[in-house]
Parts: sequence; structure tokens; C-alpha cells
Amino acid sequence: MTRIAFIGGGNMARSLIGGLIKTGVAAANLRVAEPLAQAREALGREFGISTYADNRQAAADTDVLVLAVKPQVMPAMHAELRDTLQRNRPLLISIAAGVRIDQLERWFGNLLPIVRCMPNTPALIGAGATGLCANLRVTPQQREQAQHILDAVGVTRWIHDESQMDTVTALSGSGPAYFFAIVEALEDAAVAQGMPRDTARILATQTCLGAGRMLVESNEAPSVLRQRVTSPNGTTQAALESFAADQLPRVVARAVAAATRRGAEMAASLDKD
Ligand SMILES: NC(=O)c1ccc[n+]([C@@H]2O[C@H](COP(=O)([O-])OP(=O)(O)OC[C@H]3O[C@@H](n4cnc5c(N)ncnc54)[C@H](OP(=O)(O)O)[C@@H]3O)[C@@H](O)[C@H]2O)c1
Repeated sequence: MTRIAFIGGGNMARSLIGGLIKTGVAAANLRVAEPLAQAREALGREFGISTYADNRQAAADTDVLVLAVKPQVMPAMHAELRDTLQRNRPLLISIAAGVRIDQLERWFGNLLPIVRCMPNTPALIGAGATGLCANLRVTPQQREQAQHILDAVGVTRWIHDESQMDTVTALSGSGPAYFFAIVEALEDAAVAQGMPRDTARILATQTCLGAGRMLVESNEAPSVLRQRVTSPNGTTQAALESFAADQLPRVVARAVAAATRRGAEMAASLDKD
């Protein structure tokens, strides 16, 4: 059985641990290191897994080590974990947004098999979308292990060119906020037409959920679903023509490009560490 250790017992680690246990991974094969005693006790109580205050103890003798701490914490952790990792050479999985594989190799040692992942917030409710990227030391079996761990909280796709991880960040990483912004705008538009806000919110929110479920469950292209609900000269066509006049695809492309650039800048800021 694969032994999996988590460094950092926050929101993401909790979702991954819960997801793995649901898929049948035995609690005995999972452990977590977390500095906050209260959080440690809660994780132990909820999942029945071993918890540690010391990262090195959690990382010893593990097959897979998941780094689930904030990106800014990562550089400082290398002094603590590097020797343990060089001795065991577990599969290192990082879910830290924007941290590149070459940075992980520099901090933790370049002999390690490393998978860099970019999950998103809906992973917290099991509906995540994660891009994964591996270095050349990762074996096919370790790729499966990494995919199994992230599949526990949603869908996964391998990204072969690491430079596209900034695009993953800009698409699915930041993407949930784009849909939240659209729901906000729809709500405000209905309120401006006199609708009570709570009614506008529930209608906009349920429409977002319904459209998302149709996209996933129908297996049709978004363009097909869009055409199907657009009657000639109807209300939807009037709205879509207004979107086109305002160049919606260009607005979205510019936003995604801005997020991609920012992701690369944020990763570069860790180069000084
Ligand atoms: N949440 C998301 O939707 C999401 C999406 C994509 C990627 N990510 C990435 O996932 C990672 C974790 O995010 P999160 O939302 O789970 O953050 P989080 O809830 O803040 O969890 C991080 C945990 O790490 C602990 N920690 C801090 N310093 C540590 C150290 N030196 N050793 C061991 N543990 C330490 C923190 O403890 P304290 O609270 O005591 O400091 C906290 O419990 C981040 O790198 C983030 O970029 C998150």
C-alpha cells in the first residue's frame, strides 16, 4: 500500500485526505504534519490518521509527500526537509499555486520525482479541476499515484509543457472567480430592473449551477448547448448579440492573459529564495 504524507493540514489537505478516504484508502496509510495543535487534533479525530507537529517525522518513510502549504512557506521548508527527502526519495507532489518544478528541485534536491499540481477552490467540495505536470524522474506508477490523489477531489488533466501551467492557473485556477463575477453582474442587472436582490441571487446562482451541470452531464460542446437555447430573433439571441457587440471573447481573452502574466510574475518572485 502507498503511504502518503501531507505537509500542511489546511483546507486543501483536508479535502484531499477526505477524498482519498472516500475512495477506499486506509487511514493507516495517511498522515499529516500541521503546526497548529487544534487543527492537528481535529484532523486526527475526523479522519483517524496519524498527525505530527514535526514535518521531518511525517516525511520519514513515506512513498508520497504532498506539500500542501502556502507558496511563500515553501522556500523556508527546504532546510528542514531536504535531507529526509534525499534519503527516501519519495514522490514529491506540490499543490502550491505558481511554484515551478525547477524551484522545487532547487529547494528539495534535483534527484526527486516531482509532480506539480494546480487544483482550484471547488476541490474543497469534490468538484475541482486540476492540471498536473511531472519532471522526468516520475515513473508511470508514480504518475498514477499522483493522479489518483488529485482525482479524489475532481477531474485531472496532465499538462506536458510546464509553461502551460500558468495558463491552467489563469483558466481553472482563477476560473471560479470569473463565474462568481458573472453571477454578481447578472444579479446586479436584475436588481437594476427592480427585482429583489435575494430573488435575483437565487435565480442567477441556480442558472450557473444548471448551465454547469448541463455542460458536464450532456457531454455536448458549449457552442451546441448555446445554439440549442437560442431561438432566432428570441430573447437569448438579443442578449448574445449584445455580448458580441461588446466583444465578450476579447474581454475574456484579455483577462486570461492578464492572469497568465501575473502567475509567471508571482513564480519569478520566488526565484530570489
Ligand atoms: N484552497 C484552494 O482552493 C487552492 C487552490 C489551488 C491551490 N492551492 C494551494 O494549496 C496550498 C494549500 O492551500 P490551502 O488553501 O489548503 O491553505 P491553508 O488552509 O492555509 O493550509 C496550509 C496549512 O499549512 C500549514 N503550515 C504553515 N506553515 C507550515 C509549515 N512550516 N509546516 C507545515 N505546515 C505548515 C498551515 O498552518 P497554520 O494555519 O497554522 O499556518 C495551514 O494549516 C497552497 O499552496 C495553495 O496555493 C489552494
